[in-house]
Amino acid sequence: MQINPSILSADFANLEAELMSIASADMAHVDVMDNHFVPNLTLGTAIVERLAKVSPIPLDVHLMIEHPDKWAIGYAQAGASSVTFHLEAATEPIDLARRLRAAGVKAAVAIKPATKVSDIAHLIQEVDMLLVMTVEPGFGGQPILVETLEKIAQARQLIEGSGARVALQVDGGVTESNIAQLASLGADSFVAGSAIYNSPDRANQILRLRGLALAASNPK
Ligand code: DX5
Ligand code: ZN
Repeated sequence: MQINPSILSADFANLEAELMSIASADMAHVDVMDNHFVPNLTLGTAIVERLAKVSPIPLDVHLMIEHPDKWAIGYAQAGASSVTFHLEAATEPIDLARRLRAAGVKAAVAIKPATKVSDIAHLIQEVDMLLVMTVEPGFGGQPILVETLEKIAQARQLIEGSGARVALQVDGGVTESNIAQLASLGADSFVAGSAIYNSPDRANQILRLRGLALAASNPK
């Protein structure tokens, strides 16, 4: 069970301190947006390179950008531990996943709410993680889209059927009220931006979310 706080909800003027405040999490989720693939703009390789140097935990970089075939390797070189690209934006996803792994990082593929899980079936042996978006990518603080929930169960089935060791991440609208359900559907990696950064006690909120996810995945 991985809890990866999204720094999209952090104070961008104080990112080093904001990373230290989530040091008990598994990885820091870094949302890269280019204003084309999504209608929002965040940060690029220069900032990721600095974040990787000061972060107490590894970086889980989520690329919401066009042309990941061209740009994703730059994030591996910048010090990310895991690089997620969107299926909808990639031209040659198998080749891209192989190049990311060859660059020494975990490779992951994400799908937007309207994209079917069956569209990533051919990538299952090529990636370390699937990301099922549970909101339309672009902004933090949105409520979870309930129509995406069945896709988590479908993705879990795909992983189990493949025999591959692949993590299943959910991103968007994850809170203490729904994380147990998400875990019971088969998710094992949880991105949470506003639910952690807007909490008065972030370390405790990370523990709480992890505990809820663990309890739901191993019912007594
Ligand atoms: C949305 C981003 C998410 C976002 C999640 O496009 O990919 O990582 O930060 O934020 P919350 O947890 O607030 O929905
Ligand atoms: Zn994200």
